[in-house]
Amino acid sequence: MAILKIARMGHPILLQRAAPVPDPGAAEIRRLVDDMLDTMEDASGAGLAAPQVHVPLRIFVFRAPAERVTGDADDRQVGNTVVINPVLEAIGEDVRLRWEGCLSIPGLRAAVPRAWRVRYSGVDCDGAPVGGEVSGFHAGVVQHEYDHLDGILYPMRMTDFSRFGFVEELARAQMQQAGA
Ligand code: NI
Repeated sequence: MAILKIARMGHPILLQRAAPVPDPGAAEIRRLVDDMLDTMEDASGAGLAAPQVHVPLRIFVFRAPAERVTGDADDRQVGNTVVINPVLEAIGEDVRLRWEGCLSIPGLRAAVPRAWRVRYSGVDCDGAPVGGEVSGFHAGVVQHEYDHLDGILYPMRMTDFSRFGFVEELARAQMQQAGA
C-alpha cells in the first residue's frame, strides 16, 4: 500500500499510448492497482489511469460518488472499480458538455464534450468481466480515464475554452451568479 506520485500535464508519459496488460492476474498488477486506489482516494479523485502514475499500461480505476452521479437509470453510485484492458464505444449521437477535472491538471476544471451513453468492458485483477452500458457521470469518467490510455488529456477534447478555469474562481463566480 503506497501513495504514488502523479504525473502532471507536460510530462511526456501522459501523451503516450499505453500497452495492453498481458496477465491481469499477476501479483505486480494487483499491487499496482491497490496503490492506484490508495492514490486516487488520497487525492480525492474520481478516477486514475496507470500512465498518470508513470506506468504505461492499459489500466484505470474509478468511482462514481453519490454526489456526482446524475441519478439517470444507468448512472448510479459506484464504489472503487478496476478496469484492465478496456474496450469502449459511444452509444448514439448524444454528446453533452460536462464539467470535469484531472489529477494531472490540478486546480483547474473545464466543460468537456462527452458522449452521454457508452458501453465498455474489461477485466479486474481476478480476470472477472467488468463494465456495461452507462450514462452521465459514469460514462464521462470512463471516457476521461480511457483517453489517458491513448495519451489524450481533456484539454485536447475541449471545444469551448471560455468554460475552462481555476476551481476557486469558478466556484466564486457560481456563488455570485447564485446571489450567495
Ligand atoms: Ni485525468
